[in-house]
Amino acid sequence: MAIRPILIHPDPRLKKVAEPVGTPAADMVALGQDMLATMYDAPGVGLAAPQVGVLKRVIVMDCNKPPEAEPRPLVLFDPEILWESAERVMSEEGCLSLPEQYAPVERAAEVRVRWTDPDGAAQEETFNGLWSVCVQHEIDHLNGILFIDHLGFMKRQMITRRMAKLKRERARA
Ligand code: NI
Repeated sequence: MAIRPILIHPDPRLKKVAEPVGTPAADMVALGQDMLATMYDAPGVGLAAPQVGVLKRVIVMDCNKPPEAEPRPLVLFDPEILWESAERVMSEEGCLSLPEQYAPVERAAEVRVRWTDPDGAAQEETFNGLWSVCVQHEIDHLNGILFIDHLGFMKRQMITRRMAKLKRERARA
């Protein structure tokens, strides 16, 4: 397992539509493990493959909070939203590709998702609470959508300018 560098917005790779995986081969299973290690190290509750520069439809999540709940590392290949609730929720979101930026985003309260697991088996689950928000945020990444794309133009521009500045500073360091 290896921790991979996380791309920071703005980066053209974060705006691309990622390609389906199909039955995950060994390299894709290894990518999932690397992504989990990278997510836990950050630390974060979700990560999508484009964030580590791989344009494949792979996301990882663990929204359980110890010590109340055991860790639940999930690797989802080709995740697909089958159904979303009419009920919406507004919650504060952040993203490992936009460090220290947070803003309220409205999403479906519950979603039913189908995906392929690392063994190549089809899985289906209805997510709610933080898991639901997280899976929608991560699937957005696979379609080149960041949480700031759900915000108004001014707010998005402000955050983008801040991130461009952060990247310039990091490049100089
Ligand atoms: Ni994100």
